[in-house]
Amino acid sequence: MSDLQTPGPSALDGDAIEALAAKYDTPFYLYDADILRARVARVRKAFDGLFKIYFAVKANPNLALLRAMDDAVDGLDISSGGELEQAITAGYDAARMSFAGPAKTRHELTASLEQEIGSISVESPRELTEIIEIASRLNMRANVVLRVNPRQLVKEYGMKMGGRPVQFGIDEEEVADAADLIRTNANVLNFRGVHMYVGSQCFEAAGIEKHVTGTLRLVQEIEAETGLHCQTINLGGGFGVSHSEAERELDVETLGAALVPSVREFLQNSGAPRELIFELGRYVAADAGSYVCRVISSKTSRGKDFFIVDGGLHQHLAAGGMFGVGLRSNYILKNLTRPDAPMVKCSIAGPLCNPTDLLGLNVTLPKPELGDLIAVEKSGAYALTASPLMFLGRTTPAELVRHNGTVTLGRRAHSIADFN
Ligand SMILES: Cc1ncc(COP(=O)(O)O)c(C=O)c1O
Repeated sequence: MSDLQTPGPSALDGDAIEALAAKYDTPFYLYDADILRARVARVRKAFDGLFKIYFAVKANPNLALLRAMDDAVDGLDISSGGELEQAITAGYDAARMSFAGPAKTRHELTASLEQEIGSISVESPRELTEIIEIASRLNMRANVVLRVNPRQLVKEYGMKMGGRPVQFGIDEEEVADAADLIRTNANVLNFRGVHMYVGSQCFEAAGIEKHVTGTLRLVQEIEAETGLHCQTINLGGGFGVSHSEAERELDVETLGAALVPSVREFLQNSGAPRELIFELGRYVAADAGSYVCRVISSKTSRGKDFFIVDGGLHQHLAAGGMFGVGLRSNYILKNLTRPDAPMVKCSIAGPLCNPTDLLGLNVTLPKPELGDLIAVEKSGAYALTASPLMFLGRTTPAELVRHNGTVTLGRRAHSIADFN
């Protein structure tokens, strides 16, 4: 088996999955922490250890999963006060966290400064002013980086969050003004460097290479123009993984081979310490998760076969084709109970009274029978917590975490009454 075909968690044998279903009920998510840790190690190796690897908590904030990867990652990228709390509960020191997001509240800024967070990505002049006020009141120096929205657009990113007018970061043209404010408030600000997260779902090594070399060039320009030193250079995430094609993903080894020599040269010529960071979500987590549902009904409507399962877009919006995609494409589906059944073209529908509740539209898979377990693969990132969980008042799925071969309950199921 090649590296790319890392088996998903549902590669557990059918009996083991059925036993989990009997114990925890369906639907459930199953995450494999060992796959996630292996993905982090693979990126680290591809870049010859030159980059620190942070995990973007937004991709999967499950507590047991965060705990299981503590010694595998260098730190966490967080994007809210809730993620700060979750990361601290998981046992991470805030010094290992970077906090990004276009509009952090005063409460979130205060909480992260009180925890002496590793860095806050400053995304607007208002945020900088507010950090200065809070740090003065707390009588401390706030660790800050400037999140820069560069002029350069890297077209290879599927979802673009920089290089054009966006709500994220400070436009490159305005960095000098922000730097002035930073210099004059050095008593309460510890300027650490820059953060450039410009997009997600980049499949081309050449695109990320362009982003990294462009950022390193920009860092030198900013340093020459402002006199500030960028010790930390956070290059964001965005390594692409297809959810619908088993082997389509960014080739990190090709990217590493292309980047390592120039990055090493940059570091050697720097004359001062640097810390380079990638903060990855999808690339490390997507492959590590499966969403497992049971077929509870079936019907044929005007010649088309539908199998209706007990899970749907309320628990996996992305598989329903509605999370950050322009065009719907089916996630990879597997019939876990009957992998050898004759193939059939059908749709896998969820239980919601909404015609868009389809986990698979015109897919081909081994013909399901009532009671079969169906897995939606590559569901470890932007799945459960990126879904409208309270829609129609259904119980949320349990999240199970497999680590060192043992499966434990990472989060129990919740009823809608738990949210009252
Ligand atoms: C600031 C920041 N960092 C990292 C990530 C993770 O991106 P990805 O999952 O594409 O690696 C995101 C995703 O939105 C983000 O906004």
